[in-house]
Amino acid sequence: MTQLIDGKKISAEIKEELKEKVAQLRAAGKEVTLAVIQVGNDPASTVYVGNKKKACEFIGIRSLAYELPEETTEKELLDLITELNQRADVNGILVQLPLPKHIDEDKVIKGIDPAKDVDGFHPQSVGALCIGQPGFLSCTPAGIIQLLKRSGIEIAGKQCVVIGRSNIVGKPMSLLLLRENGTVTVAHSKTQNLKEITKRADILVVAIGKPKFLTADYVKEGAVVIDVGIHRDTQNKLCGDVDFESVAPLCSAITPVPGGVGPMTIAMLMNNCVESVL
Ligand code: GUN
Repeated sequence: MTQLIDGKKISAEIKEELKEKVAQLRAAGKEVTLAVIQVGNDPASTVYVGNKKKACEFIGIRSLAYELPEETTEKELLDLITELNQRADVNGILVQLPLPKHIDEDKVIKGIDPAKDVDGFHPQSVGALCIGQPGFLSCTPAGIIQLLKRSGIEIAGKQCVVIGRSNIVGKPMSLLLLRENGTVTVAHSKTQNLKEITKRADILVVAIGKPKFLTADYVKEGAVVIDVGIHRDTQNKLCGDVDFESVAPLCSAITPVPGGVGPMTIAMLMNNCVESVL
């Protein structure tokens, strides 16, 4: 039987645990505050930001919302970040991406104090992960590690294949799997003989950004498949990077879309917010 990895349930458990921690912190006189900045009104970003605010409310984290117009200059945004960096009552700063084209994302990410970088995107956070030092972890890959651990899936010694090498998912994912003592291969758009590589995987993380790309012929029987993608299929139904119907019967465990990796990203963001106070 294929185990369905229930991201909705696991993220709800994590949020309950965090709610308790925040209550304890409050009793000790410590508030947790997240500043959320959105520039412009990209509809998908508005949904994500709304979900982040709702999660904060549930857990008891104070959220400060900055909804800035599309025409905001890079300097105005950097000045706001500097002000938030300096505020003792702000623990975490999140700038929703993508930013309008006239703003340099790298500059903005580097402008955030690494001690408040709850997205884990700052080069110092990524560097710390790379050399095994403490720092904030990128939320989606950290959420995937939690999905595996809380589903009783061993990572140590396993052949782990990550498809995708983005700064937000693929690269930090490979580093985290390595930190958990997996044997890690990173595949990407230029990889030759992709099927040969993916068929060796005990744990296969798919973050390629193409709807239903991964079909059964890429997967070894008994593999664990983690689907990071989220798309609309031709019938306007949500789907991932994995062709769930053909792949699921082969797997020992698989994440569905929706309800797999997606809910974990916000849970881990909330976790980073709580850690920013500790
Ligand atoms: N845009 C899409 N995903 C993310 C995320 O995890 N963090 C931020 N800041 N922006 C995003």
